[in-house]
Amino acid sequence: MPPLPVKSDPSWSVPTASECMQHWEDYNMLDNIKAHSTQVAKVAVTIALIAEHAGIPVHVPTIQASALMHDIAKTYSILHGGNHSQLGAAWTMHLTGNPVIAMGVLHHVFWPFEPDADKYFLPLVVSYSDKRVMHDNLTSLKKRFGDLSVRYGKTEKIKQRIQQTYEQALVLEQRLENLLGVDLNACSFDSGRLV
Ligand SMILES: [Fe+2]
Repeated sequence: MPPLPVKSDPSWSVPTASECMQHWEDYNMLDNIKAHSTQVAKVAVTIALIAEHAGIPVHVPTIQASALMHDIAKTYSILHGGNHSQLGAAWTMHLTGNPVIAMGVLHHVFWPFEPDADKYFLPLVVSYSDKRVMHDNLTSLKKRFGDLSVRYGKTEKIKQRIQQTYEQALVLEQRLENLLGVDLNACSFDSGRLV
C-alpha cells in the first residue's frame, strides 16, 4: 500500500541548515559527501522555490532539511555496510522527530510507488535532486547514470538496477516538469542557496 500523501504537521520541528550540518559532524560525514549533500540541497531548494512561486503548497525548509540529511548514513555504510537509505531514515527520525523529513531520506534512491509529484512532492524532489548532482556538480540524468554504470555496473544485475533507476529518474523529471511547468534541464540552479 502506498504511503499517505506527504503533509507536514505544524507540531513537527524542522532543523535549520546549520543544525543538519551539526548532525553531519556528529555522524562523521566525509567531506565529499558533505559537498554533495550541500549541492543536492541547493537543487532541491531551487525546485521547491519554483513550486512555491507557482502557488503549490510546499514547505521549503522541510525539503531543504530532507535533502541535507539524505546521505547522513552514507559514511557509516561505506565503512560498515548496510542500507544507507534505511539507516539514514531511522537516524533522521530519531534526530528530527519529523517523519516527512525521514521519508525523503528513506526513498531517495528509488521511489517504490506511483510517482505522483503532487502527492509526494518532497520525496520525489529529494530523489530527483540527488540524481542531478554528480559528486558536487550539477549534471544531467544521462551523464549521472552513465557515470554510475561505469563505476558500479560490475554485473548484469547491477547494470539492470541502474537502468531501472535511470528510467524512473526520467519519469520523475517529467512528472515534476509537468507539475511546475518548467524545463528542469534549462534551469541552471545557479542562484541555488540554502534558506
Ligand atoms: Fe544516497
